[in-house]
Amino acid sequence: MENHRIEVVYQKGLQTELDAVAQRLCDQAKLAAKRAYAPYSNFSVGAALLLDNEEIVTGNNQENAAYPSGLCAERVAMFYANSLYPDAKVVRMVVFVDIVAEADLVPPCGSCLQVIRESEVRFEQSVEIILIDRNRFLRAESVQQFMPLSFSGDFLLSKNNN
Ligand code: THU
Repeated sequence: MENHRIEVVYQKGLQTELDAVAQRLCDQAKLAAKRAYAPYSNFSVGAALLLDNEEIVTGNNQENAAYPSGLCAERVAMFYANSLYPDAKVVRMVVFVDIVAEADLVPPCGSCLQVIRESEVRFEQSVEIILIDRNRFLRAESVQQFMPLSFSGDFLLSKNNN
């Protein structure tokens, strides 16, 4: 038996340090959060995606009285992007949660990470993820920094093709 170690790399800073496109995505994610439907949790989340066709697509969490029927902002945005532009690659994602200053920035849930990972594998394109609150950011080059050992469709696809 041998031990394996995985290093995770991410940056933290203030949004004023981000490039202009990322700052535009931050503004869009903040606006999207205002349109969230979150009457049960009162926890509004906004996501803004940049696609390789230069389009920006946004999403927000959509809750439901039957709680599990709701969906997170990240998946609403990812599925919306893929439904509008099935061949476009997602290259960047900004996720906004309006949290109190002392709390840590909020990473996407496991199901959202899985959906973002599907996009990376499907399009052979890493998705840069930037988590923000009002002023701060946490940035990683790929969803793999949050979920280094992920389940991918490779196995299922090769099984179906044989
Ligand atoms: N939520 C998101 O939209 N994204 C996350 O990354 C975490 C959780 C939503 C789901 C639900 O509407 C509310 O936040 C509380 O969990």
